[in-house]
Amino acid sequence: MNVTLRVWRQNGPQDRGRMVTYDVTDISEDASFLEMLDVLNEKLILDGDDPVAFDHDCREGICGMCGMVINGVAHGPQRATATCQLHMRHFKDGETIDVEPWRSAAFPVIKDLAVDRGAFDRIIAAGGYITAPTGTAPDANAVQVPKPDADRAFEAATCIGCGACVAACPNGSGMLFTAAKVTHLGVLPQGQAERNQRVLNMIAAHDEAGFGGCTNTGECTAVCPKVIPQDVIGQLNHDFLAATRSGRR
Ligand code: SF4
Ligand code: FES
Repeated sequence: MNVTLRVWRQNGPQDRGRMVTYDVTDISEDASFLEMLDVLNEKLILDGDDPVAFDHDCREGICGMCGMVINGVAHGPQRATATCQLHMRHFKDGETIDVEPWRSAAFPVIKDLAVDRGAFDRIIAAGGYITAPTGTAPDANAVQVPKPDADRAFEAATCIGCGACVAACPNGSGMLFTAAKVTHLGVLPQGQAERNQRVLNMIAAHDEAGFGGCTNTGECTAVCPKVIPQDVIGQLNHDFLAATRSGRR
């Protein structure tokens, strides 16, 4: 396959940035999108040019490091697929593909396609933990969890923290991510001790980071590689109201 890429190049947070056009040739349709960028970068390096900066780690869709806006869609055209799991066979030979970073005030561009997602780390630090006694691990059946609750917690826990939900949201909201974390711990018995304070602290960290509010557009779920359902935001709102009414705010 041969493709033409229009890639966002930005030297740093203060640089204005611009789209730069590259031709990438002789790409296998079985190559991943990131492998195609690797080919581009090898050529740029051999030519003495600056390679395109982008984040990645596992390349298996589980770490949440990768992410870019491809043809205007966070993580590209394939539903429920992180950028590292997207393959070139989903594009046409000869296609022109636009590649941009997540665009959100809360995710400033570090360089090219790499953005600073430290705001997510601060939300996790504000409440993404439980209090548990130290010592040997308890028996697995010591705390029994109803199957529907376990399934709900597991579903929410599959959020990999990639940030696509923020990039897709017209409000730049981080609510799907925050709600996934609140729901994951809030429905389990082990997460009850901090349940009220967790939701208050995580929402405070979310708002402080500059994310916008949720207006139920649903763009977040549509691009989420783990298809985290939008109703976790309802769970978050429920927990937030309950915590506010409990007078612990
Ligand atoms: S909710 Fe989905 S899109 Fe948002 S950070 Fe988690 S995995 Fe990524
Ligand atoms: S590189 Fe880990 S999810 Fe894509």
